[in-house]
Amino acid sequence: MNNKFLFLFYGLITSLSVTAQNNAIQVGNDGKSWNIITRSSGYRLEVSTNGEVTATHFGNRLNLERTERTGRNDRTSIPEITVRGGLVSATPMLEVVFTDGVRDIELEYKSSELLTIDGYPALKIVQCDKYYSLEVSSFIRVLPEYDMIEKWIEVINTGKKGSIRIENLLSGSVLLPKDVYELTHYSGVWGHEFTPQTTKLTQGTKTIQVKDFKSYGSSSFLVRPEGETDKYTGKVWFGSVSYSGNWRIDFEKFFNGTLQITGGMNFWDQEVYLKPQQKFTGPRILFGYTEQGAEGVTMSLVSYAREKLLPASHRDKIRPVLYNSWYATTFNVNEEHQLALAKVAKELGIEMFVIDDGWFKGRVNDKAGLGDWTVDKNKFPNGLKPMIEKINAMGLDFGIWIEPEMVNPNSDLYRAHPDWVFHFPNRQRHEGRNQLMLNLAREDVYQYLYKYFYDLLKENNIMFVKWDMNKALTDPGFMSAPGDEQRAVRIKYVENLYRLVETLRKEFPDVWFENCSSGGGRVDLAMMSRFDFNWTSDNTDPIDRIFIQDAYLTLFPANTMISWVTQEDWHRMNPALEYKFDVSMAGVLGVGYDITQWDDVQKKIATEKIAQYKAIREIVQKGDVYRIVSPYEENRSILQYVDKHKRNAVIFVYNMAEYPANQTEENQRSPLVKLRGLLPDVRYSIEGISGDFSGRYLMDVGVTIPLRGGYKSGIYSVEAVE
Ligand code: GLA
Repeated sequence: MNNKFLFLFYGLITSLSVTAQNNAIQVGNDGKSWNIITRSSGYRLEVSTNGEVTATHFGNRLNLERTERTGRNDRTSIPEITVRGGLVSATPMLEVVFTDGVRDIELEYKSSELLTIDGYPALKIVQCDKYYSLEVSSFIRVLPEYDMIEKWIEVINTGKKGSIRIENLLSGSVLLPKDVYELTHYSGVWGHEFTPQTTKLTQGTKTIQVKDFKSYGSSSFLVRPEGETDKYTGKVWFGSVSYSGNWRIDFEKFFNGTLQITGGMNFWDQEVYLKPQQKFTGPRILFGYTEQGAEGVTMSLVSYAREKLLPASHRDKIRPVLYNSWYATTFNVNEEHQLALAKVAKELGIEMFVIDDGWFKGRVNDKAGLGDWTVDKNKFPNGLKPMIEKINAMGLDFGIWIEPEMVNPNSDLYRAHPDWVFHFPNRQRHEGRNQLMLNLAREDVYQYLYKYFYDLLKENNIMFVKWDMNKALTDPGFMSAPGDEQRAVRIKYVENLYRLVETLRKEFPDVWFENCSSGGGRVDLAMMSRFDFNWTSDNTDPIDRIFIQDAYLTLFPANTMISWVTQEDWHRMNPALEYKFDVSMAGVLGVGYDITQWDDVQKKIATEKIAQYKAIREIVQKGDVYRIVSPYEENRSILQYVDKHKRNAVIFVYNMAEYPANQTEENQRSPLVKLRGLLPDVRYSIEGISGDFSGRYLMDVGVTIPLRGGYKSGIYSVEAVE
């Protein structure tokens, strides 16, 4: 490509995207209707005859003009903010009680404004109650190239006296046109995170929610017309709530076939008193629409997270190869063994050495120590510093495990401050893993945690923090707080959690942060904007991991997915070490074995695999992921990562059981694999396959990957040859 052409080419891209951004929100001539447009979708809002702001369309952008009522029971539009009040026939987003006890809301349009929020166009529409001092603003931020809109609500008590009690405030709602729909959402339990579940949405409401701060699934979801299962084409509405406390999403199917999707913070056992002039802002919810099937959803959600959401300081950095000592030592850590592990880790090519649980005062097992964040002098008589220095001298960075939000009853902290945990008087304090949850809504708890972790990071050369959270929220009592704040305690907790991470990140801008909650128990887009990684699951068995990772990669970027190679073998299959490495190399590679016990053969395999990972990790960590074959469809899994120029790719193939041809379903018989995301007219070579092929051929006809046998794996580089 000559320079002139390059210039024109980039010029075109820039001007197109500017145009797209400028046109993202079109305001009607009357100033009271709006078309919100992304690459594929259109969302229409207008002020209706009763003065309320109404949404009339969310779907293909070409259908924006149609809003036709066809019958009495037809619900073809929906208030932008559904409220408790009037003819309540939809899921309410806003439910309040005014000072005089009135519980109904009547909103009418007041004003609107076009804004730019974090680089994207946004529409703010203000509505007010017709009588009471309540102002409600809807924000809609448009992400045109990702086919998504982001919504949230701000509520203000504009009165001079008396509080307004908010009993429910969800962040956004959309109405899908009449059709028969299937919902796919992701749930799970410890060790089995992100399990896809698909169900038909019949008349009534299907709710997915979190009530105890733990999810093991995700608030991300897909809704498709029934029978549309093609991975690469077809309509999909999708979304995700960006909140790390309790969230909920309701899918309400009406008799006429339309579907309302509403989501945000879960107000179960929660209320907020809004004093005069006070404002409350809910978390954000993303909604998207694509006609590129499930793959379109992945491209939107994952690219957005990778390109725009991850902490900016580390967003574009290549992730290091990690060692983590948890499975090698559990709580039995000491300087000598950690140094021995680090020495081997360095020889293998590992770059970051992370000490997991067990390093702090009294932490001999999971019954003691949480809360006392000073080093255990029995295990580390000289403190952590000399050990870190030696590890650094080996050429490794050092990382550490913490669990700030928890306390063991057997700890100095709890003995000094038994009132610092969530609890109700006269009620049991429910322990989980022998621990209780600190009430982080309290400022004294926040300050305590801040001081200890500030000191820890200040005094030691720590480059990586694994931030864990191992207990579900129970007993959410905060009886010493003013009565009107007691049921808002969860909201304050999450605010302070975010504040603690953000403050520490600001003070220690070079440190990587990993989010963990007994595995993937708290993975959401709000955590994704504050942490660089997620510990995906405590289940490191490669077979289970293939399933967990397939779903994770549907929703989240590969460069956030830490995956360790360990001795765990949940199904007694004794998979080959190479197989385990290949599975872990699909994200951010880590090792968790007791590598001091490894023989030369194991070390050789690991050294070669780590070198191979380093050679491909730019593509793995920054490329687009295509789930060519999902393990949920066949007895193998195939992932393809393509770099942004579409000239280099990597294919991961994981065979599971192999059956003789004809003994399986037709779609599993052919070994042919159709690739994705290549340039049709460019020729490519594939490692291990002779000849070269046009991108078009590889995508339309496919190739046979030369890998045979159950529980075999392979990694194949694809390169443009011209
Ligand atoms: C949780 C985490 C594990 C490990 C242990 C340590 O279970 O998910 O990875 O850190 O805690 O106690």
